[in-house]
Amino acid sequence: MGKIISIINNKGGVGKTSSTGILAELLAFTGCRVLCVDLDQQSNLSMLFNCYVKDPVPVLNWRERPEEENITELFRYRYRSREEIEPLIKPTFVKNLYMIPSSKRHQKTPDQIIAEKLSNNNTILKKSLATIRDGYDYILIDNAPASDILTVNSIFASDYVLTPVRIDGFSYKGLEETLDTITYIKDEHDVDSVSFLGTFVTQAERNTVLYRDLKESYTDELGGKFFQTSIRKDIRVSEIETIFKPILDYAPNTNAVYDYTRLILEMNILPEDKKKVLAYAIGEREDM
Ligand SMILES: Nc1ncnc2c1ncn2[C@@H]1O[C@H](COP(=O)(O)OP(=O)(O)OP(=O)(O)O)[C@@H](O)[C@H]1O
Ligand SMILES: [Mg+2]
Repeated sequence: MGKIISIINNKGGVGKTSSTGILAELLAFTGCRVLCVDLDQQSNLSMLFNCYVKDPVPVLNWRERPEEENITELFRYRYRSREEIEPLIKPTFVKNLYMIPSSKRHQKTPDQIIAEKLSNNNTILKKSLATIRDGYDYILIDNAPASDILTVNSIFASDYVLTPVRIDGFSYKGLEETLDTITYIKDEHDVDSVSFLGTFVTQAERNTVLYRDLKESYTDELGGKFFQTSIRKDIRVSEIETIFKPILDYAPNTNAVYDYTRLILEMNILPEDKKKVLAYAIGEREDM
């Protein structure tokens, strides 16, 4: 059964989407079947994997049904069955990597969920993913920079929460809020199934004093939940977001690919045979 990981930090621009995309690509590279779920109406992950379809105005306003359904309809109609959910899943240009895209019309989803006054608002995504998770090794959920009903759905649906941070005080605040939300959900709803996988630094400038100081504080604060692997600032990460190519095709030897590969190894979420594939790819093993 697939492991479900939410990538969350309610601070914007910390690298949630880039991390989701590259981690998904690397997991798919090892031969795992991976599903990305875009929960953000900004739809950056859908764009990254070329699965974005722009909404005409009547669709944006929910006055007309779209030609292609996406994450919006999964929430709107509370899809549970395989027949309803499978048409939302799109193949991407990366082998083994699939996605449920988002689009602008998804911006109405949170208000709509609350306005319907139905019960079980927090577990809509969990119930949908439960139907299809057998078909994947990993399901990665990219979240908007928010702490709303969609984020809560994401946490409820997940086995793990992963939080990228940048080296600044505001990102740390986002991390604290994410941890508080998880604790609140666990306490309030008696959910034991989700745990905090950890946090890591993105867009790191490793030679600065600020980086070294804050890395030390994070390690003191979080212990083993603070990954020692950071993701270096790397222009190739921004470039793939404008040319829409897989990073492993465009720049397989770039720093970010090396760093995210090390991060997956440090997170220790893969079975041994898949770990060997990654360790071999970055020269940490001489054979597979
Ligand atoms: N390692 C990196 N090196 C250089 N630029 C990066 C790196 N990681 C992310 N970026 C850039 O930083 C910007 C923000 O990244 P990203 O969109 O992944 O953040 P986000 O947390 O998903 O933002 P939002 O909260 O708005 O969804 C993007 O322009 C992205 O290209
Ligand atoms: Mg994003």
